[in-house]
Amino acid sequence: MTNEEIVTMLNHDLSGEIEAILVYMRDSFVTDDCKPSREMEEIAKDEMRHAEKLAELIVDLGGVPTMEHRPLNFGGHTLKGYLSRLVTLEKEAIAMYREHIAEIPDEKIKKVLTHILHEEEEHLEEFQKLLASVQ
Ligand SMILES: [Fe+2]
Ligand SMILES: [Fe+2]
Repeated sequence: MTNEEIVTMLNHDLSGEIEAILVYMRDSFVTDDCKPSREMEEIAKDEMRHAEKLAELIVDLGGVPTMEHRPLNFGGHTLKGYLSRLVTLEKEAIAMYREHIAEIPDEKIKKVLTHILHEEEEHLEEFQKLLASVQ
């Protein structure tokens, strides 16, 4: 696997983090209830740390970190809709990190991605709990 191929994968991961940061921040602005709003804000900060770690790995490999992301989808106009979307984003991130951890041979990169993966699993659990509490 070439560095360029690894950079492409890491930029995919980074793109997902950028999307998550923007969606979670915006959701925290429009959510009145204190608990979900705070949680969205805190998790957006975790995603920013993930973005930083990925960007560092990309630069170390000679790549340029992307700032691109898919069109933002907020899951409708209700708290339940927002939280369902956040659950989906975390599930997508978990699937992608698992795939990349299995594919990328570099041990240092695997370790960073595994650390991020564990945090995404915690985020998923947190958003699922919040979603269950609004149903
Ligand atoms: Fe993340
Ligand atoms: Fe996450």
